[in-house]
Amino acid sequence: MSFTPILAPFPAARPRRLRQSAWTRDLVAENRLHVSDLIWPIFVHDRDVACEPITSLQGVDRLSIAQAVQEAKEARDLGINVLALFPHLDERLRTSDAKAAIDPNGLIPTACRAIKSAVPDIGLLVDVALDPYTDHGHDGLLVDGNIVNDATVEMLIQQTLVQVEGGADIVAPSDMMDGRIGAIRNALEATGHHDTLIMSYAAKYASAFYGPYRDAIGVKALKGDKKTYQMDSANSDEALREVAIDISEGADMVMVKPGLPYLDIVQRVSETFKVPTFVYQVSGEYAMIKAAVEKGFMDHDRAVLETLLAFKRAGASGILTYFAKHVAQLLKN
Ligand code: PBG
Repeated sequence: MSFTPILAPFPAARPRRLRQSAWTRDLVAENRLHVSDLIWPIFVHDRDVACEPITSLQGVDRLSIAQAVQEAKEARDLGINVLALFPHLDERLRTSDAKAAIDPNGLIPTACRAIKSAVPDIGLLVDVALDPYTDHGHDGLLVDGNIVNDATVEMLIQQTLVQVEGGADIVAPSDMMDGRIGAIRNALEATGHHDTLIMSYAAKYASAFYGPYRDAIGVKALKGDKKTYQMDSANSDEALREVAIDISEGADMVMVKPGLPYLDIVQRVSETFKVPTFVYQVSGEYAMIKAAVEKGFMDHDRAVLETLLAFKRAGASGILTYFAKHVAQLLKN
């Protein structure tokens, strides 16, 4: 719908009238942040310590499975609907063939089972990509220095199935291989998982803002970069093509990632396709806010809420953010 705004001349129109007090501003607010907008990404491990701090993600810990169960309970009580799980594997389980990714008793399927049995009504989103499981840190299989698409997709199908059999509700392919959404959807249908949701990382850019995440999942030194599969930050129309492909292959929801540097993409995607569009406020965005706050340059909660509202304004249906639990607490008070 488009219309020409009718503007009275000053002083008939005084836009400040609507801003004069907290209640008038609240009365006419166009967008609001609600706890149900939040998806909380957490990192899990299976070592003996409950929590391991992540240096580059101040205030975020890697959690043991027992601790993750505890956090899931707290998150649910705060009204958070979905947790996104990421694994931190022991060094010796990372291999060039990423076989730990398809282990039915691997870390993520095990964590899903534990959380689902303790907190059955929280949604679990799992990443589908090989980077936490490879010794080189790429999302796909590497052959002669190249990421091979179709062989990777075969692995992603297996990875999806072990995670779904563990209890994952939403699979989120973050690998950016071609054809993976259709292949995963077919495999889910063929195995009777008709209700499993796919949230495709459809427009995922090759970004510097993933730095702290690599630390969080323990990728030591990524060989090369991810530019042959993740998108070039120069492009916008290409994001629409990627989203169109993923919807046509069976994605229920799509995602744009990173968040704040790509708000224009969030807006174009949500306006063009009218499908649930999510945005990931990634690790580097989180770390930037924490660092600026630590230096006394800005107020933590105001900065965080402003970024999350910006995503809503751009048209996001929901946001993956490491601030989710904190913000859920803020919204409750
Ligand atoms: C991997 C994956 C990445 C993130 C989520 N899944 C990193 C990457 O693609 O290199 C980034 C999350 C973040 O930075 O918070 N497939």
